[in-house]
Amino acid sequence: MAVALIGAGGRTGSLVLEQARRRGWPVRALVRSAGKLADGDALKVVVGDSRDSAAIDEVLVAPGGGPGTKVGTKVGAVICTLGMHDITVPATDFSDSVRAIVAGMQRHGVRRIVAVASAGALDHPEGGYRSQHGQAEVYRHVAAEHVRNFETLRASGLDWTLMCPLTLVGDIPASAAGSTASAGSVQWLYEDLPAGSGETGYADLARVMCDLLAERASYGKRVGIVSFRAGTGTGTSTGTGTSKKSSAP
Ligand SMILES: NC(=O)c1ccc[n+]([C@@H]2O[C@H](COP(=O)([O-])OP(=O)(O)OC[C@H]3O[C@@H](n4cnc5c(N)ncnc54)[C@H](OP(=O)(O)O)[C@@H]3O)[C@@H](O)[C@H]2O)c1
Repeated sequence: MAVALIGAGGRTGSLVLEQARRRGWPVRALVRSAGKLADGDALKVVVGDSRDSAAIDEVLVAPGGGPGTKVGTKVGAVICTLGMHDITVPATDFSDSVRAIVAGMQRHGVRRIVAVASAGALDHPEGGYRSQHGQAEVYRHVAAEHVRNFETLRASGLDWTLMCPLTLVGDIPASAAGSTASAGSVQWLYEDLPAGSGETGYADLARVMCDLLAERASYGKRVGIVSFRAGTGTGTSTGTGTSKKSSAP
């Protein structure tokens, strides 16, 4: 079955798309601007705004079919890599989008979603969210949106997983599952943040999102995720369990 990728034109979204291609998953991708992506062998592009229920319907259900998808069939899962347009301005576009996606999934009976927030949406050991404890002022609005999205997913009744990375960086290549610290590695934990790194590679985030898509143990969980550059860190690429190779949902 196909995967709906919402935010496919962004930095994380384009790397998730690359992962999906490698795994042979048919993708229905929502992008806001025409020309960002073109239809391909296993890719159907839907142009629209993620707050718009008609656009969400079109990405979740293939009205005219599409690569790897029969007419009228719905996707098996959703990956959401949306972000805020401008994090310096208070806005609710992002959380409005996540509410629209959840409502669309509920309308069409699509149960599985893996989405991105930030480490600020994890619980702080002293209570509240991590973003409420000394986070830089510039991240205030986006952190509030990430928390709203967590609360929307938690109340949704869906099989959700919410990725909670630290600062995202583009210059760390994706670590292979089981790769060693000398080669660079990624670590993730359910409901907590692995220690020892202050950054997360976009490529690691995209790979682990795809790895977790079919991982039932990740349902209803926030996932703290960090990357270690080659020659740093202390261990091998790990999760809370073994990061399995995933098949199409
Ligand atoms: N940067 C960091 O250090 C960091 C750290 C932790 C967490 N995060 C979070 O990680 C997530 C992914 O980050 P990223 O850097 O991959 O984001 P990004 O490159 O900005 O991509 C976000 C995508 O969402 C799309 N989008 C936004 N609003 C939309 C709407 N209403 N309808 C359709 N598409 C819409 C954007 O489309 P357009 O291209 O048309 O604008 C863009 O393609 C974000 O939620 C971010 O807050 C970031």
